[in-house]
Amino acid sequence: MTLYDLAKPVLFRLPAETAHTGVHMLLQATQATPLKSVLARRYTVDDDRLETTAFGQHFPNPVGVAAGFDKNAELPAALAGLGFGFVEVGGVTAEPQGGNPRPRMFRLRDDEALINRMGLNNDGADVVGRRLLRTDVDIPVGVNIAKTEHVAPGNAPADYRQTYERVAEGADFFVVNVSCPNSQGFEELQNRESMAAIFETLTEAGASPLLVKLSPDLPEPAVEDALSIVSEFDLDGIVATNTTTERPASLRSNNRLETGGLSGAPIEEPATEMVRFVARRTDVPVVGVGGVSTAEDAYRKIRAGASLVQLYTGLVYRGPSIARDINEGLLELLAEDGFDSVEEAVGADL
Ligand SMILES: Cc1cc2nc3c(=O)[nH]c(=O)nc-3n(C[C@H](O)[C@H](O)[C@H](O)COP(=O)(O)O)c2cc1C
Repeated sequence: MTLYDLAKPVLFRLPAETAHTGVHMLLQATQATPLKSVLARRYTVDDDRLETTAFGQHFPNPVGVAAGFDKNAELPAALAGLGFGFVEVGGVTAEPQGGNPRPRMFRLRDDEALINRMGLNNDGADVVGRRLLRTDVDIPVGVNIAKTEHVAPGNAPADYRQTYERVAEGADFFVVNVSCPNSQGFEELQNRESMAAIFETLTEAGASPLLVKLSPDLPEPAVEDALSIVSEFDLDGIVATNTTTERPASLRSNNRLETGGLSGAPIEEPATEMVRFVARRTDVPVVGVGGVSTAEDAYRKIRAGASLVQLYTGLVYRGPSIARDINEGLLELLAEDGFDSVEEAVGADL
């Protein structure tokens, strides 16, 4: 019985976003106290075999926090303390945004999933940029950059650039989010021309390392387009995937009918297949995300070609020990298969 086994029924009685805000405040509070190092001792798995280098950054382990959990860069220290190997903060937009009306985040308990239509609520690039400058952690911190809601797709490149410039100094890598299903005008951003304009502007501005985050709903030709953008602009990596607007027939929870992006266990397999698809066609590192909640899930993505993995929904269902549990499990799985390191296992199933 862990502390989270006790806390979860209480948290799950609250609306999903209220529970998230509560956990957020708790994590933030630990950052300024000695509890932070107590947590770090409890949750950090320190082992050379987990270390990875990708896009010029050194990762103490391959398990990161996906975009959306720490939208405003308030928690990197606490998340490092929970044993994560990196954090992607944001999505951040040039201007502050309130997002969609509540409720906008729903648990699908029977499916170990979430549906959200947050709509990119965030404090804006100025505030997040300043916060990042005050952030002092020894894991890489990336920023997920998104389009400001009211900006027309044609003006997206300048909008992304503005955000990039405001967060650039305090971040270790940049992920361009052209795949949010919950904000207006995003579908149009994933066509080849729009992506080319955005990445041309960002590379001109010096954004590096620069990654693109893809939707699992992209048809194959659109993925091929995205891959051609990766090579044309010499991008440093691909994050696969964001949430899906699909609703698999297997979903059982009543909330499956809510509008928004589905995440968690039901997207584990499609996201892994997207990782495999892109890893087969590119040499850049792939960050695998979607439905990772156990070491086996993470290992499948790694063997399918992911150099790193990320998660959000798993943290909600499995609690604060998730990074430790995955990292410990990965070490066992690597040993069983005779790999000396995570890096050796990347792409073993390609
Ligand atoms: C509440 C919520 C908010 C999210 N916000 C963002 C976001 O701002 N930008 C983004 O690129 N992805 C966002 N995501 C998507 C996650 O980063 C991730 O790609 C997706 O949830 C799949 O991973 P998971 O199954 O581990 O949750 C969000 C996900 C959730 C559940």
